[in-house]
Amino acid sequence: MSNMIFFLVMLFSTTVTSHSVDGNDITLKEEFELERHLKLINKPPIRSIETEFGYIVDCVDIKKQPAFDHPLLKNHKLQMRPSFYSKNEEKNLNISSIKTRFRPDIVDCPKGSVPIRRTTKEDLICAKILLNNSTLVKREAHTAEVYVRGGHYYGVRGTTSVYKPECSINQASMSNAYVRNGEGGAVNEISVGWHVFPHLYGDDRSYIYATWTSDDYVKTGCYNLQCQGFVQIHGKYYLGVPIRSVSVYGGEIYEMPVAIYQDAKSKNWWLSILNETIGYYPQELFNNLKEAAQVGWGGATIAMGDPSPKMGSGYFPDKNFAHACYFLNIGYKNATNSQYYGPSYYAARVFNDVPKCFGVEYYGRQPNPYGYCLQFGGPGGKCGY
Ligand SMILES: *[C@@H]1O[C@H](CO)[C@@H](O)[C@H](O)[C@H]1NC(C)=O
Ligand SMILES: *[C@@H]1O[C@H](CO)[C@@H](O)[C@H](O)[C@H]1NC(C)=O
Ligand SMILES: *[C@@H]1O[C@H](CO)[C@@H](O)[C@H](O)[C@H]1NC(C)=O
Ligand SMILES: *[C@@H]1O[C@H](CO)[C@@H](O)[C@H](O)[C@H]1NC(C)=O
Ligand SMILES: *[C@@H]1O[C@H](CO)[C@@H](O)[C@H](O)[C@H]1NC(C)=O
Repeated sequence: MSNMIFFLVMLFSTTVTSHSVDGNDITLKEEFELERHLKLINKPPIRSIETEFGYIVDCVDIKKQPAFDHPLLKNHKLQMRPSFYSKNEEKNLNISSIKTRFRPDIVDCPKGSVPIRRTTKEDLICAKILLNNSTLVKREAHTAEVYVRGGHYYGVRGTTSVYKPECSINQASMSNAYVRNGEGGAVNEISVGWHVFPHLYGDDRSYIYATWTSDDYVKTGCYNLQCQGFVQIHGKYYLGVPIRSVSVYGGEIYEMPVAIYQDAKSKNWWLSILNETIGYYPQELFNNLKEAAQVGWGGATIAMGDPSPKMGSGYFPDKNFAHACYFLNIGYKNATNSQYYGPSYYAARVFNDVPKCFGVEYYGRQPNPYGYCLQFGGPGGKCGY
């Protein structure tokens, strides 16, 4: 599952002289690279919005957003909405009464501009320190998921409950759905969901996020808009937004529908979150994602060594959707313009690398409002390597 800490490797390879920025040791050369990268990804805003969470959202001219600086997108034609746009993508969710419709904090950008969370030097330095640390060698990733593979897939969707598993600065925990093609270093992937990742945001809130890569996160890809690639279309919803209300075990459940689906005409991969079309990953970014050979739903954790943080709500699956974290109404597309199909018991595979720490259970098709659904998660702890 997509969860690697990767995208700054190329930026910080050599060291020259030592120097201190905001209490962190970085070399002048590194600082220069940081500034250069920031200039590339933070575009001059039409309006800037200071959020109460302390970060800034820039409203950037939709035609001048960072994605269009990507070398592979030189001739890219901006697509304003999916071709053959159908509400089908968005209306498949049945929110039952015990659940609360999740409301993200949104911003209001002027027409013709889109919101982009501003990346700061501190964001980049945090990512750098994480990478620089030799304990990274012992980085551990655990996954508990349901997936289908072996077919030709063009979309994935599902609705996950949202939690905020405690994570220290050396840990991260997430729930996501993804499309993937290729093996090993040739993995091309897009994923979307929520995560807690203190190193990325500087706090332990839960955030809406998406990632992509075209080489298994070795040189390409990043979270949200911290690198060029994603084309933002929505004027109010954006990636990297903190989630204010999270579910409580046995209590109120907040949930979030997500979908990734390919445009039949342009072959771009659209992202839909909370029933809104947010934007897309242009086909040109990928060298091996004309279609996906695998799609999946579930959770993952990352830790610098033991122990692992909790996954989901921190509880194992128990068939009670107010307990363990879930994905409801999951589906995949096996043709670009097809409907979503739920995985049959035959087709669905389950992966869980440390059963003593985490669980995952696939329930197949259940009555409304659940549809094809699963639960995953667990307490983490000393899971071993
Ligand atoms: C990165 O690692 C090197 C070697 O371990 C160390 O000398 C340097 O201070 C580290 N830099 C940061 C910012 O942690
Ligand atoms: C999703 O969006 C569609 C169209 O905007 C709307 O008709 C539908 O009610 C929405 N579904 C939910 C669950 O909000
Ligand atoms: C590296 O990570 C370990 C474990 O989290 C931490 O104790 C140590 O301070 C870190 N070292 C640096 C140079 O950031
Ligand atoms: C897609 O999957 C459904 C359900 O398994 C099947 O009925 C249909 O024939 C498949 N379509 C293609 C194009 O493979
Ligand atoms: C949504 O769920 C409710 C409660 O389970 C059910 O009564 C209703 O028929 C469902 N609606 C749709 C469109 O499936």
